[in-house]
Amino acid sequence: MLKDFFIGMSQNELLNKMAQKYGFKLGAQSVVAGTNVKEMIESVKELNTHGISCTIDNLGEFVSDREEALEAKKQIINVIEAINENNVDAHISLKATQLGLDIDYGFCLDNLKEIVARANEYNIFINFDMEDYSHLHPSFDLIDELSREYSNIGTVIQSYFYESWENIKKYKNYRLRLVKGAYKEPETLAYQDKRDIDRNLIKLIEYHLLNGKFTSIATHDHHIINHVKRFINENNIPKEKFEFQMLYGFRKDLQLELAKEGYNFCTYVPFGDDWYGYFMRRLAERPQNLNLMIKQVFNK
Ligand code: FDA
Repeated sequence: MLKDFFIGMSQNELLNKMAQKYGFKLGAQSVVAGTNVKEMIESVKELNTHGISCTIDNLGEFVSDREEALEAKKQIINVIEAINENNVDAHISLKATQLGLDIDYGFCLDNLKEIVARANEYNIFINFDMEDYSHLHPSFDLIDELSREYSNIGTVIQSYFYESWENIKKYKNYRLRLVKGAYKEPETLAYQDKRDIDRNLIKLIEYHLLNGKFTSIATHDHHIINHVKRFINENNIPKEKFEFQMLYGFRKDLQLELAKEGYNFCTYVPFGDDWYGYFMRRLAERPQNLNLMIKQVFNK
């Protein structure tokens, strides 16, 4: 029920606009690393001092206006330049709908090409975040086209989809982030029961660790993390073949602990004004995240 409520809120355009207008004060700053490149780079530098690398998300999604998509492209290229200039350990995460997938496929492809080409000049990796099912196959198509020319791209497989198993086999030669899935999907397409989603995530992780290129295990779930730790020991998986990932602001102690234990660790660092949808999805995943927000509002 609460999940549906927050997912509904995440898609409400009016609330999204109001949130942007009335600023950053609703508590989002605990989970969003600032509204501009300078603030974000400071956060990345701080995480780098702990041996944590970062994947940077210049927040934005479901763009329906060409100007807005072109502006997003410009901003992401600015982030690529900032990563290079500041020599920080970071790469990019982006969403195809931010770059115009809902406007026109070819327009989106051109925008992405420019971004991927610029990142390629600096050897910076670009991760294509995965959105809801209606964008899954068009996003794979974009990746297929771009990978004819570039190898600095990878994507995400969401374990709630029944078809995730076919997709992971098809994309095993890519660097993949494996997650449970954050959108509301129907029973016809996706597991609804948390136990099925978790079980499938473990299966996907094990498959990609054994057969894939590089695995980003993106979860805050210590049951899954502990399982993976045992699995990599039992199967002698080298540390260079995988990393753990978590979102900025969540389970900070566990993030530091894993980095200290010597695992590659990457924090997903979102920044920018368009934080509303991202933030509501985090509340949908875990209503207890409201605690973070309340603490922030009262400055505790
Ligand atoms: P989940 O929410 O299932 O929680 C499982 C258990 O872990 C909880 O019961 C609790 O015990 C513990 N736990 C979780 N969070 C905790 C907290 N904050 N404090 C204490 N305990 C906690 N999705 C998508 O569809 N497309 C994408 O591209 C991405 N990208 C992405 C990147 C990264 C880096 C992450 C971490 C996640 C994503 N996701 C995503 C989101 C993902 O699909 C999923 O919705 C969330 O990660 C929530 O699932 P978890 O596996 O983290 O734990």
